[in-house]
Amino acid sequence: MSSTSKIQIAPSLLACDWGRLKEEIQKVEEAGADLLHVDVMDGQFVPNISIGFPIIEAIRKITRLPIDTHLMIADADRYLEAFSSAGCDWLSVHVEACPHLNRTLSRIRELGMKAGIAINPGTSLSALDASLSDADFVLLMSVNPGYGGQRFIPASVERLKTLKNMIGTKPVQIEIDGGIKLENAKEVTTAGAEILVVGTGLFSQADFKGTIAKLKS
Ligand code: DX5
Ligand code: ZN
Repeated sequence: MSSTSKIQIAPSLLACDWGRLKEEIQKVEEAGADLLHVDVMDGQFVPNISIGFPIIEAIRKITRLPIDTHLMIADADRYLEAFSSAGCDWLSVHVEACPHLNRTLSRIRELGMKAGIAINPGTSLSALDASLSDADFVLLMSVNPGYGGQRFIPASVERLKTLKNMIGTKPVQIEIDGGIKLENAKEVTTAGAEILVVGTGLFSQADFKGTIAKLKS
């Protein structure tokens, strides 16, 4: 984290060139990324299927950055330990997919990871009320999860402001995910986002360092 800015950047590897994974990770690391965002999709909770344990284990060996894993899976409870063993540092589960959210978040913390609640654009923020004190961060979705490269949903800006008010002085960070790029970074950070997940908005650019610096400023 730079001393002039508290904004952190989490490149979403979903948009990277997987054939050159090691090089891509080294490039974003050198460019000033703070976390690596890894999207796990199961073809049930979301229509798409992405990556699993062997790839996360490989990423763990390549980087010292914290691995921020976003679970878009139907039955997260079954796999919490396995994600911890694979090397994840931050783990978010969807409020829509977890019937016993507080228990799930507590277990994530017990395993030594930061616990996050991910929430879809169509889910009322009141679903977070009873669980904020068990969470280290909220992953506010600004697209419907399942695919990279989608358009940012404008109503997310108001949701960020509401969420920030709900959190108040609680030690809960706000991470935003979906359609974030240079054009809207300022608007979302002003509204309360502290961690920006950036997929195509970063990997489509030639200059990672310049892009991350501009996103942070
Ligand atoms: C969407 C994923 C996102 C996605 C972001 O389901 O959760 O992390 O990779 O990609 P962009 O920044 O391209 O919207
Ligand atoms: Zn994500």
